[in-house]
Amino acid sequence: MSILRGQVPKTSCDTVNRRKEQLGTGPQGDWSPFSRYPYRGDDLVSLGVNVDHVANIRQARKAVEPDPVTAAMLAELAGAQCITVHLRSDRRHIQERDLELLRKQVKTKLNLEMAATEEMISIASRIKPDMITLVPERPEEVTTLGGLNVVDQQDTLQGAIVRLQDAGIAMGIFIDPDSAQVEAAKAVGARYIEIHTGLYAAVRGEKQQAELQNIIGVAEKAAALGLGVNAGHDLTYSNVTPIAAIPQIEELNIGHNIVARAVLVGMERAVRQMLELIQAAKRCC
Ligand code: PXP
Repeated sequence: MSILRGQVPKTSCDTVNRRKEQLGTGPQGDWSPFSRYPYRGDDLVSLGVNVDHVANIRQARKAVEPDPVTAAMLAELAGAQCITVHLRSDRRHIQERDLELLRKQVKTKLNLEMAATEEMISIASRIKPDMITLVPERPEEVTTLGGLNVVDQQDTLQGAIVRLQDAGIAMGIFIDPDSAQVEAAKAVGARYIEIHTGLYAAVRGEKQQAELQNIIGVAEKAAALGLGVNAGHDLTYSNVTPIAAIPQIEELNIGHNIVARAVLVGMERAVRQMLELIQAAKRCC
């Protein structure tokens, strides 16, 4: 059996093919939210690898390793089409040094997740990532909880989007799968949305199916409005397939589960390398 438990079931493929026929050459066919990277014209979903959790391990020791920049380079070598980082105001994982190096080194696309604060707008204007996904930020949260409430903050968000878009950055907003939030994202000038998949990932059975249908509806609505559609949060090797099969979705941002697997699949090799070193020590010195 494949270790990738989420193989696409045939019924899902049929659904996707039907949806592709329905979609035809809509706004997605010839348009991309990322001006520097024209839409490939295929229906493959891009993977944005979020390397925050590599920085989390480093910061737990205030050490220099593991370096999220090196992790980003390896992710690109493995085929990731985007590198995502969240520079938080408390700098709990990614540091400005990381962002500066990533800007120089990333060859695909650099996606900066950030709150729409003056401090972050000023950093982003200097660094100029390829795209910015505006997210909510609460000091006490362990990870981003819920999408941005665009409906309630239209003026602030529009101001931030205009300033950063003028600096040549593609602007998107991380929102809950909610139709009113999609309309508000369009109204404030976002080029794309990223749909929060946290609830989909947290529930099971019929509730999960219902949430999947909700996400599909929101993705269809956003694409019909001309918005690019990304998704992410709590996606895993087990639950990603139905989300990746949604035709309107262009990019998935995944962090924790990839880093979690990287630690485990790399463990045996890392232990062997240390054993080789310590067992060779007395023989050679
Ligand atoms: N998208 C956004 C907007 C996020 O804030 C995060 C978490 O930093 C992710 C995607 C990735 O989530 P996860 O680490 O659960 O894969």
